[in-house]
Amino acid sequence: MTWYYVNCSFILIFTWISYTNSIPGYSIEAPKSVTVQRGLCVHIPCHFTVEKSVTLSERNTEGLWFNGTDKNPPPVAATKGDISEATKGRFFLTGEVWKGDCSLSINDAVPSDSSFYLFRLIYSNKYSFSNIKPEVTVIELTDKPEISLEKTLVAGKEVTLTCTSPGRCNGSTPLITWSGVQGKVVTYTADYPDGNKTYYSNITFTPSRLDNTFPLSCTVNFQKSNTSTSQKMILNVEYTIHNENIPIIVMEGKSEIIKCTVDSNPQSNITWYKGEIALQNTSSRQTLIYNVKNANLSDAGIYRCSATNSLSTTNKSIEVTVHYVPRTPQINCSMPKDCIIEGNKTIYINEGSSLSLRCSAESSPAASLAWLKPGNPNTISLDEELHFSNILHSNDGLYTCQANNTYGRSNASVTIKVIYGPRAVSGKDSTCATEERVIKCTCIIQSFPDVNIQWKIDEKSYAISDKDILISTSRFDEETTSMMDLLLNHNEVHSIQCISSNQHNHFTLSLLSKERKYPPSILDSLRNCLHFLLAEVLILL
Ligand SMILES: *[C@@H]1O[C@H](CO)[C@@H](O)[C@H](O)[C@H]1NC(C)=O
Ligand SMILES: *[C@@H]1O[C@H](CO)[C@@H](O)[C@H](O)[C@H]1NC(C)=O
Ligand SMILES: *[C@@H]1O[C@H](CO)[C@@H](O)[C@H](O)[C@H]1NC(C)=O
Ligand SMILES: *[C@@H]1O[C@H](CO)[C@@H](O)[C@H](O)[C@H]1NC(C)=O
Ligand SMILES: *[C@@H]1O[C@H](CO)[C@@H](O)[C@H](O)[C@H]1NC(C)=O
Ligand SMILES: *[C@@H]1O[C@H](CO)[C@@H](O)[C@H](O)[C@H]1NC(C)=O
Ligand SMILES: *[C@@H]1O[C@H](CO)[C@@H](O)[C@H](O)[C@H]1NC(C)=O
Ligand SMILES: *[C@@H]1O[C@H](CO)[C@@H](O)[C@H](O)[C@H]1NC(C)=O
Ligand SMILES: *[C@@H]1O[C@H](CO)[C@@H](O)[C@H](O)[C@H]1NC(C)=O
Ligand SMILES: *[C@@H]1O[C@H](CO)[C@@H](O)[C@H](O)[C@H]1NC(C)=O
Ligand SMILES: *[C@@H]1O[C@H](CO)[C@@H](O)[C@H](O)[C@H]1NC(C)=O
Ligand SMILES: *[C@@H]1O[C@H](CO)[C@@H](O)[C@H](O)[C@H]1NC(C)=O
Repeated sequence: MTWYYVNCSFILIFTWISYTNSIPGYSIEAPKSVTVQRGLCVHIPCHFTVEKSVTLSERNTEGLWFNGTDKNPPPVAATKGDISEATKGRFFLTGEVWKGDCSLSINDAVPSDSSFYLFRLIYSNKYSFSNIKPEVTVIELTDKPEISLEKTLVAGKEVTLTCTSPGRCNGSTPLITWSGVQGKVVTYTADYPDGNKTYYSNITFTPSRLDNTFPLSCTVNFQKSNTSTSQKMILNVEYTIHNENIPIIVMEGKSEIIKCTVDSNPQSNITWYKGEIALQNTSSRQTLIYNVKNANLSDAGIYRCSATNSLSTTNKSIEVTVHYVPRTPQINCSMPKDCIIEGNKTIYINEGSSLSLRCSAESSPAASLAWLKPGNPNTISLDEELHFSNILHSNDGLYTCQANNTYGRSNASVTIKVIYGPRAVSGKDSTCATEERVIKCTCIIQSFPDVNIQWKIDEKSYAISDKDILISTSRFDEETTSMMDLLLNHNEVHSIQCISSNQHNHFTLSLLSKERKYPPSILDSLRNCLHFLLAEVLILL
């Protein structure tokens, strides 16, 4: 037990001797070992002391760092004079040696820097501090650059991403490159008061929807150390794309679907609106289909597909048109001013007037209109308006307005009835003929509306049958036929007139007219006298 203690003490003493192996008063303080990543840098703080009797001056004090124990090859760093080619520009003795500072900086570390290093002081004398020989270990680069963005990526909106190189050194400038997107690249450096630097690269670009989920990377290449490191980032671009909407036409009574497809990041909730009324919605699918069933006119209009996600709401509208067979046309009378079409759709109009009828029909698509007259092979007018400047009886009849569109046609009709005064019927003569002792007269009159017929015989008028006069009147269509049988008594008839009248006019037809030279009684006597004389002569012969 005791021996062990003694032995142990011996070792401790040996160690102490080893620590102060050289001249007492000379000591060095520095980390025994440091580790640095390839391409990066390390600062080795270092302080030393010398014997109290020694005073160091700035002018004649030199410090040198050597690789390992070898003091013959050029130093790796020195306050002045040549240094090793391998470390030139990378190793710096940054401390003020005459003040006891032996700090060493290593930049752009490479694997061959792995070694231990010895500090040697040269003043009026020389001294190598061999009790601490800091060991530098260069490991492969594991730090990665950092990619940062100040805001979320939104399709179509310009954004700047920043790549920050690892390390905060005073070494050579690394090459920072971007891949995955094209953009404007700006590199810049942040200089710190301690002489260290941080290297950055900004890339400014406008992401598109297609960039979403695309990998972007930033690579930092420490060319002097022949090493590089990179960081990858998956782009998360927010966007909303609506499908192309084309107008929809649906036939009345039929069905049609309207479809809204929204591609967005983050995913949207889709809702179909008509006006402000939500018709249908979804919260998980990309497509929302609305069925316009058994369409009627109230289904026509603008439908709005609204897509909402955490980012925004976007709308896309689609027009739905409902087509149908023309509705039953409406026929209005626009001339003369006071004309109206009665419930039975008959227009009564005075002959010679102007008449304008206008036809209109609700229809989608718009209908073409035409006026037809049944029995007439051709259309009367290919216009909505049917116009007569001087209407005649011959214009009487049924007029049909036809409204056509691609889906079908519909009709409406009116009857035009011309009001005209009595007149003779061409080809049908009114005559009188005498048979035996009866004069038979026929008076044929055309008119609308119906006429009153009076017979004027000489100076007397008869509307209905009387003694010796038989009157019968019949009407067929617009012809009124009045027949008058006049029994001839002893009195002679000189004039027979058929006088017809309706609300519109009067018309007098003269059927018999004789010169009244003698009073009828004298004539009769004369004729009787002659008959008698002749009979007497024949008998005598
Ligand atoms: C230090 O010395 C070792 C061994 O001789 C060598 O492999 C290494 O390259 C040297 N490093 C420097 C920085 O001189
Ligand atoms: C920057 O350099 C100073 C000395 O100049 C050093 O003390 C410090 O550790 C360095 N900083 C970094 C982050 O390397
Ligand atoms: C930084 O490096 C330059 C040479 O590249 C050197 O002159 C300067 O002393 C260094 N500064 C520090 C604080 O290490
Ligand atoms: C780089 O981008 C950052 C973040 O957008 C910005 O603050 C900085 O000013 C930019 N620097 C340069 C040099 O463009
Ligand atoms: C850089 O490293 C690669 C392998 O990582 C090697 O092939 C190449 O020769 C090296 N270049 C230099 C200049 O050392
Ligand atoms: C829309 O969805 C909500 C639930 O997410 C539901 O309560 C609502 O009734 C839906 N509206 C329509 C018009 O479907
Ligand atoms: C259209 O149909 C709806 C029911 O589907 C009904 O409530 C509405 O009155 C109809 N509108 C018209 C103009 O026919
Ligand atoms: C989508 O709908 C769901 C269910 O109604 C709701 O919980 C969610 O908040 C909606 N999302 C957005 C972005 O409106
Ligand atoms: C979408 O339409 C609604 C209703 O008309 C409106 O309130 C909203 O502002 C619209 N949103 C956008 C982004 O146009
Ligand atoms: C046609 O007449 C109807 C009534 O019979 C009326 O409601 C409509 O407004 C009229 N149209 C025109 C164009 O005058
Ligand atoms: C309509 O008028 C026609 C001819 O003028 C006539 O024959 C028919 O009886 C009338 N109908 C009605 C319901 O008044
Ligand atoms: C309506 O359609 C029919 C047959 O399709 C055609 O004979 C007629 O001329 C059309 N009328 C108009 C006004 O286009």
